[in-house]
Amino acid sequence: MNQQVTKICKDFIHELNEVIGSQKAENIFILTDDNTQKFCLPELLKSEKLKGCHLITIPSGDENKNVESAVIIWKYLSENGANRKSLMINVGGGMITDIGGFAASTFKRGIRYFNISTSLLGAVDAATGGKTGINFLGLKNEIGVFAPADEVLINIDFFRTLDNENLRSGYAEMVKHALIDTRAEWDEILKFDLENINFDTLRDLVDRSIRVKERIVEQDPKEQNIRKALNLGHTFGHAFESMSYRIKKPVLHGYAVMWGLLCELYLSHVKLNFPKDDLLKLKYLTKEYYGTFNIDCNDYEALFELMTHDKKNETSEINFTLLSGIGEIHINQTATKEEIFECFDFFAGC
Ligand code: GLY
Repeated sequence: MNQQVTKICKDFIHELNEVIGSQKAENIFILTDDNTQKFCLPELLKSEKLKGCHLITIPSGDENKNVESAVIIWKYLSENGANRKSLMINVGGGMITDIGGFAASTFKRGIRYFNISTSLLGAVDAATGGKTGINFLGLKNEIGVFAPADEVLINIDFFRTLDNENLRSGYAEMVKHALIDTRAEWDEILKFDLENINFDTLRDLVDRSIRVKERIVEQDPKEQNIRKALNLGHTFGHAFESMSYRIKKPVLHGYAVMWGLLCELYLSHVKLNFPKDDLLKLKYLTKEYYGTFNIDCNDYEALFELMTHDKKNETSEINFTLLSGIGEIHINQTATKEEIFECFDFFAGC
């Protein structure tokens, strides 16, 4: 798998021109959803390298990350002369980079593709690391391949138009990266002022956060081992997220991850002596900026059931990544039902 280094752009159009120029593509296809077509594509089209390129737009939303949208993309590529010398540029959040990467890497056994992430969440997570895919039969990312983008470009200016909720959603994944990295990163991320976003500071933090993910993916691109560190917070988090959809009060992914991190750091404290001080720091951050997901003991069984169906489980046991300290990662951990319910008690009491 080729090494991928995400570029945090200072002069977006200039850097975009450079990477397009280096590819010498015969033709270029830009993939957007209906939002990024409206709000981000005009900026991209300032690039003289994109004159005459093809535009493909699919409907936005994770519910459209499906085989029907993939067919729209493959059909357009096929009918408009795409070949092994073509380049596809995916412009959007995680939904677009996931499906675009999947469509590109399966078309004619794979054409080159770039990701330009327009959401903070996508920038620090989906755009980097080579996981591509679509949802199928109600299962998230059920069909997909590992196929890293040839270039990933981040333009922090796109994030200026994001609302607070979407910025906080992305920030949760940055908190996760700091927790699995070093105490210095953890201290730094906690200093960031979510009330008054400074986009220069954010650029620096995004850069460092992506490097944490890149270092881990480089060691284990196909998630056999240490890449499971990136699942911290996601075992509980996915259960909260799925439950929110089930009760028709959907929450943003990063909110569910933040609540999942809180539960999993509590579990880490109970099982591996993760420091209480750091657990409390995360608790205050969560309470202040993410509120809570209202659960009571009547919900525990259903949440537990959702966790048993998580595709990260390799056996009948629920698989966790836990920490014994900041940056001290323990993959393939398990917990009893009683321990998991104790985490729900802790969370519900926060
Ligand atoms: N989203 C976690 C990973 O890319 O492995």
